[in-house]
Amino acid sequence: MRWALLLAAAALLAPAAAAAPAAREEQLFKAWMLQNNKKYGLEEYYHRLQIFVDNKRQIDKHNAGNHTFEMGLNQFSDMTFAEFKKMYLWSEPQNCSATKGNFLRSSGPYPDSIDWRKKGNYVTPVKNQGPCGSCWTFSTTGCLESTIAIATGKLLSLAEQQLVDCAQAFNNHGCSGGLPSQAFEYILYNRGLMGEDTYPYRAKNGTCKFQPDKAIAFVKDVVNITEYDEAGMVEAVGKHNPVSFAFEVTGDFMHYRKGVYSNARCEHTPDKVNHAVLAVGYGEENGTPYWIVKNSWGPLWGMDGYFLIERGKNMCGLAACASYPIPQV
Ligand SMILES: *[C@@H]1O[C@H](CO)[C@@H](O)[C@H](O)[C@H]1NC(C)=O
Ligand SMILES: *[C@@H]1O[C@H](CO)[C@@H](O)[C@H](O)[C@H]1NC(C)=O
Ligand SMILES: *[C@@H]1O[C@H](CO)[C@@H](O)[C@H](O)[C@H]1NC(C)=O
Ligand SMILES: *[C@@H]1O[C@H](CO)[C@@H](O)[C@H](O)[C@H]1NC(C)=O
Repeated sequence: MRWALLLAAAALLAPAAAAAPAAREEQLFKAWMLQNNKKYGLEEYYHRLQIFVDNKRQIDKHNAGNHTFEMGLNQFSDMTFAEFKKMYLWSEPQNCSATKGNFLRSSGPYPDSIDWRKKGNYVTPVKNQGPCGSCWTFSTTGCLESTIAIATGKLLSLAEQQLVDCAQAFNNHGCSGGLPSQAFEYILYNRGLMGEDTYPYRAKNGTCKFQPDKAIAFVKDVVNITEYDEAGMVEAVGKHNPVSFAFEVTGDFMHYRKGVYSNARCEHTPDKVNHAVLAVGYGEENGTPYWIVKNSWGPLWGMDGYFLIERGKNMCGLAACASYPIPQV
């Protein structure tokens, strides 16, 4: 308490050090540490405190402005974006643009809005990839889980770790990245994917332990939506099922809390996307059309693990490589 006061006094006396944490910011950091079960050594503590305070100020500044989405503190608030990127996103470009489209748009009607979470028991609870660039495996299992549930009424939970460990022959790289379209191809040619229960997730690279007799999910065909055909994505989600897609995560997205995410500066091309997720629906709010998206950073991030992102503008390259499987049931 006493040294907190001293710090506050020091901050008043030394306006040049305006970026130094104020006492109330440090209190907030301590509360955040408790809430997030964080413990650091002394040196690390001051390092993380400064990063936390920088993030918090960025969040407050954003929230004071006029934006379609809000930012907030979350489990990533003691990390710089560079650290976050290294731990959770693809380190290098994947072969998005090599994915040839074969989705044929039809002329039939589709709904103005849809949310597959509300149409039935079609979407598994939000999962957590942990510190491993395996988002593509969660986008893949999420999509296959939903397509199977829509076809059979049975909602399975499928094994991301099998994709991390076994799908290299299809240009996937475990914790270093991959693509849902390539993972669907793997499941098709491998003849099956095991369940979460028989092949649990470990958030790190491992050796392949696939057991064919334990496979519970199968793929008959893979549908790739034509590059930049966002209307095709809408039709696929509106008429068929959730769709896997990738987009570029930039520094602000890490702090997303709620609302419709939009960014005027992110990239729009397939070589810049670095994170794969699952579109489970779409809608419109105050004239802004959006996608409803399932992420894989646990249920505490964003809106119960989900986020909304602006639709119709290829926002952050989200229409650059979208796909879904046709399950074999
Ligand atoms: C906020 O931004 C929207 C969209 O750009 C604009 O229409 C609105 O007038 C702005 N509101 C304020 C208070 O600046
Ligand atoms: C992209 O595809 C080529 C040809 O199949 C392959 O050699 C390369 O490793 C792939 N790159 C990635 C990042 O998967
Ligand atoms: C879909 O994309 C995958 C991975 O990029 C590719 O291997 C496959 O041939 C594509 N399918 C079609 C029908 O083009
Ligand atoms: C994980 O394994 C893949 C090959 O399957 C390799 O390309 C990649 O560098 C490994 N990543 C890490 C973080 O060990």
